[in-house]
Amino acid sequence: MTLNIVTKTVREEPSDLLLIHAAELATCSNAPRSDACSDSDGPWRGAAMGDIGIIRDGAIAVRSGVIVDVGTTQEVLSREPLCEPSPGLPSCAAGAPGAPGASSASGAPHVIDASGCTVLPGFVDAHTHLVFAGERYREHVMRLGGAKYLDILAAGGGILSTLTSTRSASLSELVAGAMKRLDVMLLHGTTTVEAKSGYGLDIDTELRQLEAAKIASEEHPVDVVSTFMGAHAVPPEFKGDPEGYLDFVLSEALPAVGRQRIAEFCDVFCEEGVFSVEQSRQVLLAGMEHGLRPKIHADEIFPIGGAQLAAELGAVSADHLAAASKEGIRSLARAGVVAVLLPATMFTLMSQAYADARGMIDAGVAVALATDFNPGTSPTMSMPFVVTLACLQMKMTPAEAVCAATRNAAWAIGRGDRAGTIQVGRDADFIVCDVPAVDALPFSVGVNPVRDVVKRGAHVVKNAGGGGRLCHSLI
Ligand code: NIG
Ligand code: FE
Repeated sequence: MTLNIVTKTVREEPSDLLLIHAAELATCSNAPRSDACSDSDGPWRGAAMGDIGIIRDGAIAVRSGVIVDVGTTQEVLSREPLCEPSPGLPSCAAGAPGAPGASSASGAPHVIDASGCTVLPGFVDAHTHLVFAGERYREHVMRLGGAKYLDILAAGGGILSTLTSTRSASLSELVAGAMKRLDVMLLHGTTTVEAKSGYGLDIDTELRQLEAAKIASEEHPVDVVSTFMGAHAVPPEFKGDPEGYLDFVLSEALPAVGRQRIAEFCDVFCEEGVFSVEQSRQVLLAGMEHGLRPKIHADEIFPIGGAQLAAELGAVSADHLAAASKEGIRSLARAGVVAVLLPATMFTLMSQAYADARGMIDAGVAVALATDFNPGTSPTMSMPFVVTLACLQMKMTPAEAVCAATRNAAWAIGRGDRAGTIQVGRDADFIVCDVPAVDALPFSVGVNPVRDVVKRGAHVVKNAGGGGRLCHSLI
């Protein structure tokens, strides 16, 4: 990969945080040293997903929460104006201005020594059902006995059981649950997350879920991006009358969400026995009229044409796709829709029907990864686990999986110009994994490889492997 030539030799202002000596630093960017926005050119597809701009002995300089330099440790230290030896900061390059003695101890940057570790952009979890109340572990036990997901839903369980507990939860209970889960996500390296409503299916509860996501985003270091998913299931009061419920979503719920400007995206569960392609089209078109960009749960269990619908509408993403047809995959590639794959769902449902990630990458689809965290089909909050499944079950390479879990995931939620890369001018969102190379990342199976997390320049998880303490409340 060609990196931009650096013309400036010394930056004007010192950094306040320096990460140095990363064994591998995966920038997921073509232009890590430029803030010229030349890298805001969309998600990567095909072979591009396999070359994630790795710098050996890599370093990052941060000032006021923004990345101000990226390169090898030697390069970054040589451009650091106030550089003096300090614990963990071995030495300055010869001739660097501000060399020993030039700065006071209090002005010294906070240093993270990433020796022996791999540094990545913070994970972007592009598909979650973060805000809900209640538990569904009994359903998991039923599935161990052979019960099927859609049968449990048809019998009033599944999404409908979470609906009952979520409707009776207060705003503060929903916020508290979301905050606790965001802590777990942060410990596993997630710095930006998408969150859907869809466990209320009435106006008050849907708005309460979205309000909870907004509050959590304001109060927690992790950024939360909201999606309205009123068309997640048909609630009990409309049992046997899906058209009546659809009418309610189109004429009452969507306008209310649009008026409050409390979500960016609209999603629909397009699946046999849930919402048909035609019904999904109506929901997403109405969402667009209210300023919500379309996303779609497509072809998860049966290939009913959700991928083609996503392409037709120019959706920002089509998610699941485990059963997508070859034609569906081709249409995603043609339309430039990001495919968000959710292997942890197949894992939890004990299905071998994983999405055809290789076929998608070969067809030129931009593939992203997410947890699909929800109480029913995917109770994991760990993006490293998803990366492991992507490699071991869907045969993605470790580099492709990292691209899918960072850069491409950011594009799948409209944050491609801010998150998902390590690049000058971007928010300083990055993680230190206790593995010696990107290629080692998927093989820390069942173990959290994330050691440190930096969110917008704040060192919010410190040395997780050596005691695991969240520090964001202290900063
Ligand atoms: O993405 N597929 C639909 N929605 C969720 C499951 C939600 C639930 O079962 O609570 C999903 O898997
Ligand atoms: Fe989902």
